[in-house]
Amino acid sequence: MLEVSNVSKSYFSGNQTRKALNGIDMTVSKGEVVGLVGESGSGKSTLSRVVMQLESADDGSIAFNGQLVTRKNRKSFYQASQLIFQNASAALNPSWTVREILLEPLRTMKGDREAHIRRMLGRVKLSETYLHRYPSELSGGEQQRVNLLRSLLVEPDLLICDEIVSNLDRLIQREIIDLLLELNREMGMSILFIAHDLPAVMYACDRIYVMKDGRMVDESVKKDGVFHFSHTYAKRLFDSVLGNRMKE
Ligand SMILES: Nc1ncnc2c1ncn2[C@@H]1O[C@H](COP(=O)(O)OP(=O)(O)OP(=O)(O)O)[C@@H](O)[C@H]1O
Ligand SMILES: [Mg+2]
Repeated sequence: MLEVSNVSKSYFSGNQTRKALNGIDMTVSKGEVVGLVGESGSGKSTLSRVVMQLESADDGSIAFNGQLVTRKNRKSFYQASQLIFQNASAALNPSWTVREILLEPLRTMKGDREAHIRRMLGRVKLSETYLHRYPSELSGGEQQRVNLLRSLLVEPDLLICDEIVSNLDRLIQREIIDLLLELNREMGMSILFIAHDLPAVMYACDRIYVMKDGRMVDESVKKDGVFHFSHTYAKRLFDSVLGNRMKE
């Protein structure tokens, strides 16, 4: 469904060029939950921004359902694909109520938008009483649910989650991941799950990509609940968490 082919991207700062993405290939199939891990600065967020056309690639292509995604047609791509970031409180307009925040992505929707919101609230385990609150009146976990719901309202086929469970405690983290997995099962929504938390990624994902210094260095499919990596760096990374997995 999502096909990233040979994508490269450099940043110029000062008089230096740094290759943040170097010939990246990546796919996410329909209904698949795919993890993307790698040390800080390896290019994960850059890749998600390039996929979403928030920044343009220097080279390579991004296709969705066989169609090339470009800055020009990205509006229609956003009906099918949504990106959520880590910092929910920064993503939510502080002067809007939850209701106003949730109505915004539905501007162009025909039919009863309020009813759609009320129906979807239950999915992220929030009640209607939250609609009249401001983001500052919500806990971190609740803010992330509102942020998540805002992306889910357009019923995307693909959801890219960039560190959305960092900074949340383990229990809330688990609740949000389980919610994503439920949406994946029930709506067939594909998920690209970017995170530092390896046990969480191993728990959530069917397949994991590993990035290092702007390159995709390894990839493994889950077999009998276990991942097998071949690249030395990826092996080292995952060896450090063996026996420490988020239990299913
Ligand atoms: N706007 C920018 N201008 C210049 N360099 C940038 C810019 N954005 C990112 N970079 C550089 O590109 C590289 C990749 O950054 P990126 O944010 O994609 O890493 P990441 O894998 O998401 O890291 P983290 O796990 O810390 O979120 C880093 O070296 C970063 O400094
Ligand atoms: Mg990042």
